[in-house]
Amino acid sequence: MSLEATHAFASRPAEELPDEERLAAADERAWLELLARISRQSVTKHFQAYVDVPWDDPDFAIDPTDPRFALPESDPLGATAWYRAQPEAVRARLGLHMLATFMKIGVQFESTLKRGLLEYSQRLPNGSPEFRYLYHEVIEEAQHSLMFQEFVNRSGVVVDGLPGYARWFASGLPRLARRFPELFFIFVLGGEDPIDHMQRAELHRGDRWAHPLVRRISQIHVIEEARHLSFARAYLRRNVPKLGLVKRHLLRLRTPLILGNMTRLMMQPSAQVVRTYGIPKAALQEAYRGNRAYATARCASLGKTRALCAEIGLIAWPYSGLWRGFGILRS
Ligand SMILES: [Fe+2]
Ligand SMILES: [Fe+2]
Repeated sequence: MSLEATHAFASRPAEELPDEERLAAADERAWLELLARISRQSVTKHFQAYVDVPWDDPDFAIDPTDPRFALPESDPLGATAWYRAQPEAVRARLGLHMLATFMKIGVQFESTLKRGLLEYSQRLPNGSPEFRYLYHEVIEEAQHSLMFQEFVNRSGVVVDGLPGYARWFASGLPRLARRFPELFFIFVLGGEDPIDHMQRAELHRGDRWAHPLVRRISQIHVIEEARHLSFARAYLRRNVPKLGLVKRHLLRLRTPLILGNMTRLMMQPSAQVVRTYGIPKAALQEAYRGNRAYATARCASLGKTRALCAEIGLIAWPYSGLWRGFGILRS
């Protein structure tokens, strides 16, 4: 697929994607058709990290002082007076460091995701079309992680990714995929949907994604994630209504906690970035804690997941108070 074609697809608003997921929840034949379509697309429209990204093209090289990596004014931290007062090379390096951290978190998230999908698929019977699709998804996620890790390696910055507590939490999630797959797929949406939302918006706007390497990685990711999101949403629509009272209560309780924490981890600089560049508390306060534009953007990044959760009854009162408390539901 050409760069132009992938861009046209990636910049298409997600709302325009075919909404066969809703049908698939209620109707067995529509569910099988959805699985057949996304499995077929995984064969005809897929990418490989070391075939479809021209890593050694000089135009795709990473220069940490490249001003295209600097945070744009539309970024909450990029708009602060502290950031704007930094020398151009520091602005670029910090932007690259945040981007590389974002990619490393992608590798860590996808590692948990792949292990969970493999766990879940082992409980499926022979002949299950779900099994086939899940294996396509695992293969695609492995190619994404190869792309993200190669970017981190070439960035030249030291990147830890997730903080220790999040890594500990993530280590228990693959088992959850077998015991409580509905909660596992909420975690999947919490990792995939905000990233997809941000990548689509950035591809549409330009900004630092004008760097061809970042652009190519985002284009590939957005195309393949559309299938993963379709599967997760249809799965939840289909299975949450069948849950008993206890599991439904646990799901309603834990969903805002998972989504609220995941968006924060993905949209704010890591502790390592804060330390490395000496970002002052006042700048962080201005960019994140006291910034209405950031609160709105964070909330918007979960728009489709929130709409789904409302539809399947996960935001009912009194649980809606937790959503507000985590800043992911506006009154
Ligand atoms: Fe991915
Ligand atoms: Fe994915």
